[in-house]
Amino acid sequence: MTQNADSAAARSLAFPGNDGKPHRVTWDDKSLKIDGERLTVWSGEFHYWRLPSPDQWRDVLQKLKASGFNAVSLYFFWGYHSSKPGSYDFSGIRDIDRLLTMAEEEGLYVIARPGPYINAEASMGGLPAYMTTHGGEERTADPQNLAADLEWLKVVNRIIGKHQITDGGGSVIAYQVENEQIDNAPKHVEYIEKLQAVVEEHGIDVPLFHNDWGDGHGYNVPGGPGGSRLDLYAFDTYPLGFDCKGARGKLSDFESRIRGYSPKTPVFIAEGQGGAFTSWGRDFQSGECAKFVDEAFTRQFAVNNLANGVTMFNSYMEYGGTNWGWTGDPGSGFTSYDYGAPISEDRRITPKLAVHKEFGYLQNAVKPIASAQNVTPPTITSTGGGPVKAQQRLSTENAEDTSVSGNGMRLITLRHPDSNDTSTSQVTFPLDLADPPKAATSASAGGNESGEDKNSAYRRIPQQKNTAISIAGRDAKTLVADYAFGPHRLVYSTSQVLTQLDAGGDLLALDGTKGETGETVLRFASKPKVTTLDGAPVDVTWDADRKDLRLNYTHGDARTLRIAGGGKELTVLITDRDAVATTWQLDAGRSDILVLGPELARTARLSGAQLDLTGDTRKPGPLRVFAPKNVDVLTWNGRRIDASRDDTGALVATLPGPQKPTMPGIDSWRTADSDPEHAAGFDDSGWKKADRTTADNPKHGPGEASGVVLDTDEYGFHEGDTWYRGHYTPAEASTTVKVSAKTGTAGHALVWLNGRYLGAQGDGTTTHKVPDGVAEPGKPAVLAVLVRNMGHYEDWSSDGRSKTGRGLADVAVPGSGKVRWRIQGAAGGPEPADTVRGICNNGGLYGERKGGHLPGAPDSSWRTTQSLKSERPGVRWFRTETELRLPEGSDTAVGLRIADNSARADKYRVQIFVNGWNTGQYVNNVGPQQEFVIPSGFLKERGKNTIALAITAEQTGVGPDSVELVDRGTVLGGVSGGQNESPGYRELLGAERSRGQ
Ligand code: GAL
Repeated sequence: MTQNADSAAARSLAFPGNDGKPHRVTWDDKSLKIDGERLTVWSGEFHYWRLPSPDQWRDVLQKLKASGFNAVSLYFFWGYHSSKPGSYDFSGIRDIDRLLTMAEEEGLYVIARPGPYINAEASMGGLPAYMTTHGGEERTADPQNLAADLEWLKVVNRIIGKHQITDGGGSVIAYQVENEQIDNAPKHVEYIEKLQAVVEEHGIDVPLFHNDWGDGHGYNVPGGPGGSRLDLYAFDTYPLGFDCKGARGKLSDFESRIRGYSPKTPVFIAEGQGGAFTSWGRDFQSGECAKFVDEAFTRQFAVNNLANGVTMFNSYMEYGGTNWGWTGDPGSGFTSYDYGAPISEDRRITPKLAVHKEFGYLQNAVKPIASAQNVTPPTITSTGGGPVKAQQRLSTENAEDTSVSGNGMRLITLRHPDSNDTSTSQVTFPLDLADPPKAATSASAGGNESGEDKNSAYRRIPQQKNTAISIAGRDAKTLVADYAFGPHRLVYSTSQVLTQLDAGGDLLALDGTKGETGETVLRFASKPKVTTLDGAPVDVTWDADRKDLRLNYTHGDARTLRIAGGGKELTVLITDRDAVATTWQLDAGRSDILVLGPELARTARLSGAQLDLTGDTRKPGPLRVFAPKNVDVLTWNGRRIDASRDDTGALVATLPGPQKPTMPGIDSWRTADSDPEHAAGFDDSGWKKADRTTADNPKHGPGEASGVVLDTDEYGFHEGDTWYRGHYTPAEASTTVKVSAKTGTAGHALVWLNGRYLGAQGDGTTTHKVPDGVAEPGKPAVLAVLVRNMGHYEDWSSDGRSKTGRGLADVAVPGSGKVRWRIQGAAGGPEPADTVRGICNNGGLYGERKGGHLPGAPDSSWRTTQSLKSERPGVRWFRTETELRLPEGSDTAVGLRIADNSARADKYRVQIFVNGWNTGQYVNNVGPQQEFVIPSGFLKERGKNTIALAITAEQTGVGPDSVELVDRGTVLGGVSGGQNESPGYRELLGAERSRGQ
């Protein structure tokens, strides 16, 4: 399969976002509309910088689309593109134009969120690090900051603007201005209003909105303060909270509150909890957040949101990814930003994705949901367990066509009132189609059991004796009633409608929990003929008075029924929630199709009698496809496969599975010291002087004792490690050195005096003792300090925390006299030497400046070793080459695991480079992350890979016990793609070997 084949298949999708025509985006209080047609926006959040493998952006986008998402929400990370004022880089891993094009090709609408401030657990909340040097307040109209913000918006809007659906350029349907303004203080209102005006001037004409924080506070509503040019009101909500080992928060109703803020716009969740981030030093891995924000919550949340009229929803995160290099904010996260999201950091599908699929498919299939309004719920009768909360919505729009009774489709939702209740309850309720429920605000009671049309009044649902609807613990249900689709009339179902489509015949798919009973009633003019085509039999009851066909069954045994009667045959597929994971509805161009069986069905294209499918398998297994009747050639990932038709008329075949790759072992390393800067005699004369005595940002100094500004950002060094050397001639013997370092959470600094190690420290102030004889009066002395910058803090509450400062704040050496400081950081400073990997890849370690992380670096004179343990405190470099032979046509997730038995007692950290790419940071004494996902764009799947480790030890004899590559899972399939452009030593440093000491 080639890249072209991938996108060609995608381009055949009939989708307003890629047909080249302009489209109108409007809205009312119920939903967004494209060309007047209602759209429930079902979106997943994806951060391109957290998947530094642009070829694989398509993988994630295809997984979203196949799982029923119709939109993707994208933050844009300004600081990732801009290393100095006026300079912007959108090449390679930063090519957002390519990303937006891919989203169009894959049939996804885009919600664009370019900030300027985004939060997002990104370093400095997305702002470029050089803005820390500005004096004024960020996220206000302070002239210097505002000028920078507007310049970014101009540059990024030039790209986003080309992809708007409104002029036929692409699939961007909405645009967020700023993020979570904390209040409506005049300075914030003024600022956000200015941004809105400029965004309009830049030609952005899709609906504008802001993301109001913490369940919504009514800030920045359209027409209100800070919202005069906004079109939609949106808010974020994380009901469970962010402590993945803590107690779960509870769900509640919010519709009337939100409508009170903004009565004329749809209920729009700009970020709804899809997982949670994990921070340094926690006692659990990010996988714990997948258990905390689990499938049950995900379903409950979706059900509660439907009950509250949400028709625009974005799951944050749907794919979390990796805080590679120095992209992360130290306050909230370590390298993995897996987030416990439905698509894991290594791009694998987790069971949660199937829950989102249920609701994506449901809203796509049952269009009246987009216009349904809150009405009085049915009266619930408990037949066991505790109380159950019912809510109901009614869609009266086009009710004649979309409902059985003509009164309107109903959506009934059920859950325990306490969303954390784990008991099981059984309920029944009456339903009367002839008596539509009243608006929820009206005083009248719902459920009129003496409706005039007795044939439409059901005293008790389910009707089948000895059955009831179960709510097992944190489960929740969405039931569709009074719904007509085409000639078919669904009176109600106690199962969930998974989808209905025409796939070579009309098909209705229903799912439910394995082991639970389901009851589905369809209405016909006369008794239809029901044939069980496969699977276990179903209890079929014909109610001649009502003209109802009632089906009773237990979920778990899949079955297919064909019902003939009422003009057009209907195939009913009764499945269960587990099977939803491997059920895929795809747009094949001429028709939709339904694919059952594989781990993933990505794309489908019909041409004549041929159906081309792409997808992934984790093991060999059956494939079943409901497709137009004329299809007689089936291909899978470009190869023809033998297929026949089963009793249901579906195409069936067997799909191959992947080959298991063997991971190469790592037996030895080449090693060398990598911190000559610590030694007294090191020549730092080429370094920048750190001698400024003023800084616009008062948090940056000058230091009280040093009298100079030492902050790294003031000297153009924004990321990773920075070295300082301070020269002085003491008047009296130095006995202490007091160092104030600003590292960010979990950072550290190492201090040497005249080449003698004084010790290490974290963020804050530490007084280091100087042993006798190390610095003597009248003799020149040199202090060497290495400070790690863990990234810049966010500015979540707009309090200027992001401008805290990094590097040294101050150093006091009693009796030192004047200290002359020099500073050295990442090669090139604000003009990164490695423009391909970009500003976030490197700090200023000696090995980084010398290219020791790059493929092809000269290490032949280095010692060979098996041990990764330190011989003294300081920085040591390790390199090895390892040959990968990953199977072709497969997608293998490769990880790197660091093993250590010291129970976090040993103090050291490892910066991991794979083929020159800064893959992540291991901090043994902080934790918790032991295993690092290697983004596939960093790897050469078949060939030699260079792994380099920069180990900074605070002690002697510490370091990893071992480092190994691990297979985190393989599928046969994947999208085409390869290694990113990955310049090596020769390309980057070959001509200039002696660069930058
Ligand atoms: C939201 C914010 C996001 C992200 C999220 C937590 O409040 O808008 O950017 O930080 O919290 O993951």
